[in-house]
Amino acid sequence: MAGGVGSRFWPKSRNHFPKQFIDILGLGKSLLQLTYERFLQICPNEQIYILTNESYADLVKEQLPDILTSNILLEPSRNNTAPCIAYASYKIAKINPAANIVVAPSDHLILKEEVFLAKINEALTFSSQHDALLTLGITPTRPDTGYGYIKYQDGSIKYLEKNSEDSEVKKVTAFMEKPSLENAQKYVVSSDYVWNAGIFIWSANSIIKAFQKYVPEISDLFEKGISYYNTEKETDFINSNYPSSQNISIDYAILEKADNVYTIPADIGWSDLGTWASLHHVVDKDEDGNASSCQHIHLQNTNDCLIQLPAGKAAVIKGLSDYIVVDDGKVLLIYPKSDEQEIKAVAGKMVADF
Ligand code: GDD
Ligand code: MG
Repeated sequence: MAGGVGSRFWPKSRNHFPKQFIDILGLGKSLLQLTYERFLQICPNEQIYILTNESYADLVKEQLPDILTSNILLEPSRNNTAPCIAYASYKIAKINPAANIVVAPSDHLILKEEVFLAKINEALTFSSQHDALLTLGITPTRPDTGYGYIKYQDGSIKYLEKNSEDSEVKKVTAFMEKPSLENAQKYVVSSDYVWNAGIFIWSANSIIKAFQKYVPEISDLFEKGISYYNTEKETDFINSNYPSSQNISIDYAILEKADNVYTIPADIGWSDLGTWASLHHVVDKDEDGNASSCQHIHLQNTNDCLIQLPAGKAAVIKGLSDYIVVDDGKVLLIYPKSDEQEIKAVAGKMVADF
């Protein structure tokens, strides 16, 4: 999934160049390219689909030149993750209804790649044997209100005689997407909750069944569209009908409601890099907790700040605590880290494409 705007990463992430296409970590590759390389270790290039907004078609082709053009599914409007997942699922089911699908965001950081691959393989084995919707679960470290919280039952599900001892698949009893701060604080204190990593594993059959049950208007639309499979009519149908499909995320549309959700707790060095604070968590910091990639910077009585300035720009900062300071040359943002969830709305209020 590479169609989001990443607006909580504004002003670096912009409508015309969102964060999945940016080299946020300074590794010489965008988050999308890193995600693609990670998944090449799981399935062949021909089976990787990129779901994105039509305005990013050229960016995807430029950054992932090996992806088949027919595997880049273009959305004519931004309707969140449920419709885009439905579109891909119906296409894949047409090829093989029993196919196992891993749905992944394009903008996450995963430091423990070996563990990640092992967990995905375990999840794929489980999903090929069960009518199950699986997600990877991350131990929460703070009451972040931008995540989905998962409550699971004690005890693992035995599913393979061979490795039943090692199975870590847990039955989910409740899924709460983006809770209030008060609730998030309760969930973090209890040890029965994990964060939803937003990486899902299921068979095409299982997810289509869930769309039919919980969001039939979405499934009706794509069932009809896919009858024109791989013809010009399919594109015409998507262009005329996709914008009117429900605008909802998969978390609210299905995961909060379904009773066949499972999780695999996974210590994979995960960060969703969704906000400036999440980047601050994973980058190197000085002894006062400041993270800055700038060469010419003088900090006094300043702590726990993330500071990003254009190359060659100097800054002197005194008395700032727990702030985001980002200057991308065109926009300067100085914002308390604790209020960073507001940045999405602030970015939305800015005129044109600032
Ligand atoms: N193709 C496409 N089309 N992709 C989209 C769209 C869309 O309309 N909207 C979002 N995406 C992509 C984003 O680029 C991102 O890679 C992924 O789908 C998830 O969307 P976000 O908007 O980043 O979701 P979120 O971070 O608020 O919440 C989700 O992820 C959290 C973990 O990072 C939820 O699944 C939460 O439950 C979860 O905790
Ligand atoms: Mg996200």
